[in-house]
Amino acid sequence: MCGIVGYVGSKNAKEKIISGLKSLEYRGYDSAGIAIPINGSVDVRKCVGGIDNLEKIIDDINYDGAVGIGHTRWATHGAPSVINAHPHINASGDIAVVHNGIIENYTEIKEWLVDSYGIEFKSETDTEVIAHLIGVYYDGDLHEAVNRAVKKMRGAYAIAAIAANEPDKIVAVRKDAPLVAGLGKGFNFVASDIPAVLKYVREIYLIENNETLVITKDDVKIFDKDGKTVKRDVFHVTWDVDAAEKGGYEHFMIKEIHEQPDGIKDTLNKRVDKDGNIMLDDIKLTAEDVAGFNRVYIVACGTAYHAGLIGKYTIEKFAGIPVEVDVASEFRYRDPFVDDKTLFIAISQSGETLDTLAALREAKSKGARILSVVNVVGSSVARESDDVFYTWAGPEISVASTKAYTTQLACMYLLSLYIGKLNGHISDNYYNEIIDALRDIPEKVQEILDRKSVVEKLANTFYKKEKIFFVGRGTDTVASKEGSLKLKEISYINSFAIAAGELKHGTIALIDEETLLFALATQDRLFEKMVSNVEEIKARGARVIAIAKEGNEQIAEKSDEVIFIPQAIDEVMPLLAIVPLQLFAYYVSKNRGCNVDKPKNLAKSVTVE
Ligand code: G6P
Repeated sequence: MCGIVGYVGSKNAKEKIISGLKSLEYRGYDSAGIAIPINGSVDVRKCVGGIDNLEKIIDDINYDGAVGIGHTRWATHGAPSVINAHPHINASGDIAVVHNGIIENYTEIKEWLVDSYGIEFKSETDTEVIAHLIGVYYDGDLHEAVNRAVKKMRGAYAIAAIAANEPDKIVAVRKDAPLVAGLGKGFNFVASDIPAVLKYVREIYLIENNETLVITKDDVKIFDKDGKTVKRDVFHVTWDVDAAEKGGYEHFMIKEIHEQPDGIKDTLNKRVDKDGNIMLDDIKLTAEDVAGFNRVYIVACGTAYHAGLIGKYTIEKFAGIPVEVDVASEFRYRDPFVDDKTLFIAISQSGETLDTLAALREAKSKGARILSVVNVVGSSVARESDDVFYTWAGPEISVASTKAYTTQLACMYLLSLYIGKLNGHISDNYYNEIIDALRDIPEKVQEILDRKSVVEKLANTFYKKEKIFFVGRGTDTVASKEGSLKLKEISYINSFAIAAGELKHGTIALIDEETLLFALATQDRLFEKMVSNVEEIKARGARVIAIAKEGNEQIAEKSDEVIFIPQAIDEVMPLLAIVPLQLFAYYVSKNRGCNVDKPKNLAKSVTVE
């Protein structure tokens, strides 16, 4: 987790670093800091809270320079506090370091530094050992000192370091945590992610694992782990910085909810021709490859995991291959049956989630074919995959994922149909029926958005509830899980989701007059059963809001409220059923005065285990 930015130029380092950090707050925002070499020493300023707070403590005109490093933190080792905030400095205060990741053997290194050099530690962080390590190895050459320090460290990290005696450079290293260099004219950047530098540069170097960078104002040199110079192609960013800003909406989340019709349309239109043929340029699967697969594993975290659960329905139905879905942090530790007959699908918005990346590597080492569904172009998951299916949702800033989810779903539909065609499992008629239904989805999502005031009113009525549960059957179970996750993420309400049929096996004991329950009933073939479940719930005194297809009046009679969504065949309803639940979570969070885009304890990109 955490975001880092470094700038080397001729002036105004402070302004550039602050701008970069603001676009990295999705990586964490519990504390922040900046270090600039000034008059022969390193001046470090740190604060608790976000970049707005940091700006307040660096606004004196004497605090600026040509070079600097900054950090926005999401605490792992040590609570969010000024002392634990980055940058961290060495004992003599002339070297400063920012770090994203975890140093696994930091206790061991700390003991060694205390025993051998009598170093006194000030913070509870693992990062402080890096500053001291570089400090004890420093002999006038920062690059050399960083190289020696890195040899002692285990774990995942992206690091940027500066030294007061070399105020013209930054040395940075990447291992299992994202890092890019931004290339300007007479200035250069290093950062955790592209949006941090996009206001100033469009030419990027994507840094690989175990590479070290030496950044000066006129040059970015990349070295591999043996110290050999690496030549890297420049990656030109084509998307616009405006795409990462709010564009008139009050929050990123509501903006991103509204971007879903276009996001889904882009994902579909660019891959499906007018005859309904699916073209996946970055996917090289052949009919022979597909015939060789005996199982599919889908692995992901959070919202992306829910997209994987829908992927199980679609792949099994359209392609007839058994699918297992796992959360990434569990997959790696349970000896899964993965071999060269496995198709392994990683789903990740950021493409940097450490657990997903580690699971991918595990599957790769066992010979699986690796396909990823990723939003961020050039991210680690994408680069380490055999085949990549980009969601093209554009940058997603709100921590609660919305447009990434629906575009991930769109990708899972296309991928499943594509595989089903390759192995001949799906009939032409059924294939065409699904393609036609998918083409109508963007317009139907727009219809739901046009009627969002219905959902807003319900949120205004029920936002004080402390227990809000979700039930459904079939794919509605997955929509329930995702709706519940959205709500608890951003409004801190106690919420769970469960298959409606399972409710009576224990969980129904929690239902009482104080409960609000969403009953998702968008599956025609399971509709009658859902109506019975609603009766059971009503009998325990709960208030029920049903989500149903337009025209299903029967459920309106049984429940307290209904949110009707447009009619479509059952198979594609997951793309519609989630939208009112995203809106409900948004309006409840707003009503409760929560920080919608940056909920407490969370971060957008989780690059620690
Ligand atoms: C974090 C975010 C979630 C996201 C999950 C997986 O927990 O808060 O919104 O779904 O990570 O992230 P990924 O980038 O791999 O999709």
